[in-house]
Amino acid sequence: MREPRSRDSRPFDATIRLVEVPPSGGRAPLSQRGVELVREGLARSRDIACFDFVPSDYAVVYGELAALPRGSFCEWGSGIGIATGLAELLGFEAHGIEIDAAMAAASRRLLADFGLSATVETGDYLAIEHASDVYFTYCWPGQMLRVERRFLESAPESARLLICHGAGDVRCKVKQNEGLGPVVLGAT
Ligand SMILES: C[S@@+](CC[C@H](N)C(=O)[O-])C[C@H]1O[C@@H](n2cnc3c(N)ncnc32)[C@H](O)[C@@H]1O
Repeated sequence: MREPRSRDSRPFDATIRLVEVPPSGGRAPLSQRGVELVREGLARSRDIACFDFVPSDYAVVYGELAALPRGSFCEWGSGIGIATGLAELLGFEAHGIEIDAAMAAASRRLLADFGLSATVETGDYLAIEHASDVYFTYCWPGQMLRVERRFLESAPESARLLICHGAGDVRCKVKQNEGLGPVVLGAT
């Protein structure tokens, strides 16, 4: 029998699955700069015709991120770049991937105007690889399984996936090796 293969034709390890871990309960309030970034980003986003852009609840995203160990961060579908900018404000090395060219360009301007060095590339996160410690995404419900599979196939073993089940319902998922139990993640 032939070995199962992922979309990009690398072998796919069927013994690794995704499990949800309890929410951090992070309550860190948005900093003043964070509040300004959110306000300005949302204002600018209104001038861009991108049907797919729906903002997440940035206060919740910020609280969840604040409770995690710092490292690299990648936002899959970064929109106007607010969550990517917030991740940098928290000390992450932040990067976004956004398929809508106008939105991606506007997010780069927003980040630069706030003196942030986070990067955004225009493209499809289902095709682009960007190894990170933490991934954040807010996709359509019908895309979630595909996105989770993409995480399983492409993210480093100890990475976390913060995935929105609704704008303010941010779940944290990690890889679990069926034989060995959950991957052990560092505490804050
Ligand atoms: C629901 S919005 C969330 C935006 C952002 N994560 C936030 O919370 O502010 C989803 C975003 O993902 C982008 N997107 C959808 N599919 C994508 C893909 N395959 N690759 C890159 N971006 C994608 C859309 O253009 C949109 O900006």
